[in-house]
Amino acid sequence: MDAEIENRVAELRETLHRANYRYYVLDDPEISDAEYDRLMRELMALEEQYPALRRPDSPTVRVGAPPLTAFDTVAHAVPMLSLDNAFGEGELLDFDRRVRRLLETDDPVRYTAEPKMDGVAVELVYEDGRLRLAATRGDGATGELITENVRTIRSVPLVLRSGDGGPIPSVLSVRGEVFMGLENFRRLNAARLEKGEAPFANPRNAAAGSLRQLDSRVTAARPLEIYCYGVGHVEGLDVDSHYEMLLRLAGLGFRINPLVQPPGDVSEVIAFHARLMEMRPTLPYDIDGMVVKVDNLKDQRRLGAKSRSPRWAIAWKFAALQETTVVEAIEVQVGRTGAVTPVAHLKPVQVGGVMVSRATLHNADEVRKKDVRIGDVVLVQRAGDVIPEVVKVITSRRAGDEIAFVMPDRCPVCDTALQRPPDEAVTRCVNAACPAQVKARIRHFAAKGALDIDGLGAKLVDQLVDKGLAHDFADLFRLDADTLAGLERMGPKSAENLVAALHRSRRVDLSRFLHGLGIRHVGERAADLLAVRFRSLDALADADADALSAVEGIGPEIAWSVRRFFDNPENRKVIHRLLEAGVTPIPPPEAAPDADADPGASSPAAGKIFVLTGTLSTLKREEAKALIEAAGGKVTGSVSGKTDYVVAGESPGSKLDKARKLGVTVLDEEGFRDMIRAG
Ligand code: IVH
Repeated sequence: MDAEIENRVAELRETLHRANYRYYVLDDPEISDAEYDRLMRELMALEEQYPALRRPDSPTVRVGAPPLTAFDTVAHAVPMLSLDNAFGEGELLDFDRRVRRLLETDDPVRYTAEPKMDGVAVELVYEDGRLRLAATRGDGATGELITENVRTIRSVPLVLRSGDGGPIPSVLSVRGEVFMGLENFRRLNAARLEKGEAPFANPRNAAAGSLRQLDSRVTAARPLEIYCYGVGHVEGLDVDSHYEMLLRLAGLGFRINPLVQPPGDVSEVIAFHARLMEMRPTLPYDIDGMVVKVDNLKDQRRLGAKSRSPRWAIAWKFAALQETTVVEAIEVQVGRTGAVTPVAHLKPVQVGGVMVSRATLHNADEVRKKDVRIGDVVLVQRAGDVIPEVVKVITSRRAGDEIAFVMPDRCPVCDTALQRPPDEAVTRCVNAACPAQVKARIRHFAAKGALDIDGLGAKLVDQLVDKGLAHDFADLFRLDADTLAGLERMGPKSAENLVAALHRSRRVDLSRFLHGLGIRHVGERAADLLAVRFRSLDALADADADALSAVEGIGPEIAWSVRRFFDNPENRKVIHRLLEAGVTPIPPPEAAPDADADPGASSPAAGKIFVLTGTLSTLKREEAKALIEAAGGKVTGSVSGKTDYVVAGESPGSKLDKARKLGVTVLDEEGFRDMIRAG
């Protein structure tokens, strides 16, 4: 074979491995998605043409391999243990005392503390720097071989990286947790519901179900991620502490949770627990607690293990995010797009620190499948900020007088006959003027991610629509303070404030404006992509479906939906009235030349210089710094003309005054989080 072709294949693999690492592990891409796709296609074509060049660690294996008939099993060289649980500070202090007694010391012991990821434990075995096999935990002694499936997870290195802090170990078994992020989980479930498939009960089940597929091409299509947290059998890894080991693993190309705490004494562990509890609802993934580990590896060996758990680590578990309660009623709710969703009204119950009194039942098929009846005792759960949902009925607690739910055949709000296309799971009210839809559209338009109209809450929107003061969102800008002051729970002052807020909201980023229009399938991300590509409402309204779907990240479904929206004269009329009322969508800033090839992929924090001041309530300074750096930004100590952003927490210092003087943009904690999330 041609040496030139072999060289090209090797070069493509190296470039794609590196691109993968930058994108999925560091979250800091170096090449555009388009460039990546082009190189990947070239490599796939070459491997197709020259099968002798195929390798199990080629980046092309991420798309999956032909299905298996069953999983083989494999013995773990070092057993995969489980963890003892501590509930509360007292039990953690007991653990610390026990550790010190066994180590025969009165000195404080240093621990690392890590989020306990709620996913599936896996072991990845590397020989001479290449992924040889991957296995589930199984019973701890033997697991199932899921190598092909794990190869499809983008943040799992297929080949280790060298040159970062030491040689590549000859044998390296790394352990970590495979999980599915909440946003991806929601999207996957929504897609399954649309197709009439059963949704996964929670992200952990989704991750487990996706990993245990005989056909790795199914796994490849599921957005799985990994955080690595330890090692099993290793040869040639020379480290003294757990934390040092994690840093080495990061250097070798593994993804480590940036929230892992450097070693500290037990009081620091307790302080981190409090912060982690606070952060929990805003994290993009589920955690079920915190893992505390003795940092010194010699001490770990001295402490050893019991039959199923080590003596050097403990899991401090959080309160469950599932509770049981009673379904008091089932009502249907009409959404922005007319989708009619059954909602269970529950006897209020605390779930993970939040009072829950309603839970979604998704659609009629789901109610039937779960057989939820009025009067049932049910298990409800919430995960992160996901809308609470009914997991299952506790049938053993049925009395026999529970009442089955029947989907109405007319809209409960406007009495239009409901429709359900035969191939869809969703029932819809097709009357676009249905007050429930109008209200939901206006709420969406006024919400934070859109025009962000301060003081225009749900109750007020209800009144405006019910009193005929607003039929669409363009009507909002005609409201005057006198009219508003006459509404319930409004006074002259709040009416004036609202008019001022409406006035302010008229200058709005094009992307937020597009998002606010509520075009089906156009969420924040699609709105961003469209705004960056078309830069004006006119250009977007005139683009044909081909031009739309040519935008990276915009599929044919979104393209058609945008087209349909602008082809509707009613929609054009509303937009016209908005513009007449002075609403001014502002195009995004021109991209820097090098970022131009890849709009949307890089974080808004990339290349920016930040200064931190004051105390943030959910983040330590080091964590905020790590987040900024992971997004490609830089943190400096003092404010100057070069500073792009000052992030100000509680009781900020003189840096804030200086920022104001120099006209530097000041972000509060929420603004900062929004920016980091936008990446
Ligand atoms: S260490 C011997 N660290 O929790 C120590 N486990 O109940 C073994 N888990 O099977 C585990 N995040 O699936 C460790 N940062 C973390 C973890 C973690 C999640 C899971 C893991 C393990 C289970 C133990």
